Amino acid sequence: MSIHAAEAAKDDASYAAQEEAHGIEPRRVGDVVMEMKNITLRFGGVTAIKDISFDVREHEIRAIIGPNGAGKSSMLNVINGFYHPQEGEIWFRGEKRGPMRPHEIAHQGIARTFQNIALFKGMSTLDNIMTGRMTLMKSNFWQHTFWKGGAEREEVEHRRRVEEIIDFLEIQAIRKTPVGRLPYGLQKRVELGRALAAEPKLLLLDEPMAGMNVEEKEDMCRFILDVNDEFGTTICLIEHDMGVVMDIADRVVVLDYGRKIGDGTPDEVRSNQDVIDAYLGVSHD
Ligand SMILES: Nc1ncnc2c1ncn2[C@@H]1O[C@H](COP(=O)(O)OP(=O)(O)OP(=O)(O)O)[C@@H](O)[C@H]1O
Ligand SMILES: [Mg+2]
Repeated sequence: MSIHAAEAAKDDASYAAQEEAHGIEPRRVGDVVMEMKNITLRFGGVTAIKDISFDVREHEIRAIIGPNGAGKSSMLNVINGFYHPQEGEIWFRGEKRGPMRPHEIAHQGIARTFQNIALFKGMSTLDNIMTGRMTLMKSNFWQHTFWKGGAEREEVEHRRRVEEIIDFLEIQAIRKTPVGRLPYGLQKRVELGRALAAEPKLLLLDEPMAGMNVEEKEDMCRFILDVNDEFGTTICLIEHDMGVVMDIADRVVVLDYGRKIGDGTPDEVRSNQDVIDAYLGVSHD
């Protein structure tokens, strides 16, 4: 067994022990699927990310936390190809990633939601979620025009999958409602639906519970856990609510001023003095 595999096995054992102690069935956290190696990202004179390395393992819920401006959203933007780091390497499913555009990365099975909701406000819930299927659509405009039978069959299948997501997220009642008319918490749920429509292997969520009341947060937590459990989706999420992070994350990486100051299980991170000094000891909105 390699050192890496031995470490992974040890980590697995500690997850299982922790979860057993809490009376929870051990989750099937697997091998490393994504590795960020020594990532540095600069915007002119601002260094948003300084030499950060961390990995994400199959089927886990990996949280990224840290104060405002720490570089969390920038890191998600690096993962999904919106930003290109000046230094460092990204490995996904055992392969080093070359320069790729966001839509190519989406094709690899990485989808995301945004810190500021990115939906078409005038379009219905159903149509917004349908846009999430774009990366999976085989037929284009010309095929839709001249290859009616095949394109229609494909369309029916896409609609069926979208309806499944609508059922899963319990938003049947708003399927025809223009998204701009929905309360904020529901818009966040629709955005999750749009990301799920792409059937991602790795789902990136940028503050999925920000601005929500307690009940909405509980719902969102349940949906995230269900996605992780039922679809086996690996999840990497940014969240400020420490109660939520401690409850649902398998491992947590902590950023501060673009640097990594902690990385480990929720318990490890919670007792890390650097993390307490920089983040946990102070209040956050
Ligand atoms: N497109 C950009 N151009 C210039 N600077 C940027 C850009 N995006 C981010 N930054 C800077 O990079 C740093 C990290 O920002 P980022 O948005 O990643 O932080 P964050 O941890 O997500 O913060 P928050 O909790 O407030 O969302 C900040 O100093 C920010 O001003
Ligand atoms: Mg952010």
